[in-house]
Amino acid sequence: MAGNWKMYKTAAETCAFFHKFNPLVAGSAHCEIVICPPSVNLSAAVEATRGTRIETGGQNMFWEKEGAFTGEISGNMLKALGSKWVLIAHSERRQYFGETNENARKKILAALDSGLTPVYCVGENLDERQTGGTHQVLESQLTGGWAGLSADRFSKIVIAYEPCWAIGTGKVATPEIAAEAHRFIRDQVRKQFGAEPAAACRILYGGSVKPDNIRGLMAQPDIDGALVGGASLDPDSFASIVNF
Ligand code: PGA
Repeated sequence: MAGNWKMYKTAAETCAFFHKFNPLVAGSAHCEIVICPPSVNLSAAVEATRGTRIETGGQNMFWEKEGAFTGEISGNMLKALGSKWVLIAHSERRQYFGETNENARKKILAALDSGLTPVYCVGENLDERQTGGTHQVLESQLTGGWAGLSADRFSKIVIAYEPCWAIGTGKVATPEIAAEAHRFIRDQVRKQFGAEPAAACRILYGGSVKPDNIRGLMAQPDIDGALVGGASLDPDSFASIVNF
């Protein structure tokens, strides 16, 4: 269960969140719990979660290890802060910052090289869904992002299916729509890497996940977890999602 805070919360607000959130999930051992705050607040989040099962992640990274790349951060920097995860190619990165499947591929490789678990985000927009292009978009995002990965390296990545039309809109995909896309993604994994990696691969659903719809989503066998934006900003609401 992962929370994507996007560009929300200061360091002080980060500490206040965990002060309330930590006890609410102290007994929750059924899943991994990850929060991805803005990178400037990762240290505060790492500090505030020390001694708990809660892990932290970056929302983005660059593919080079270091260099003259003003404004960027590397996987090694995230790792050195104590983070284990990194979101790659979130739809907002694709939409506003020109992220491509090829960039995503380089970032996934660099994240793995740094010992981070990349959460590779894929999903169609409304127009693509309405014109019947969902499968084609997912297939090209998946094959572009994982091109060149061995089955062994693939086994270290997590996929997040986030239909753009459901992100921040309150329009959650029905469990059936989400499940169909997750099945399709798992089939693509099977085709590329084989039956075992496909069965083991974790596919998260993201897009308007809330405490009142998480149960229906998680009841689908191909949905292994959630990537939560808005509802992860509030400790009570994210805790009730974790503890669905
Ligand atoms: P949302 O965002 O839960 O606010 O729809 C999900 C995401 O962008 O990861």
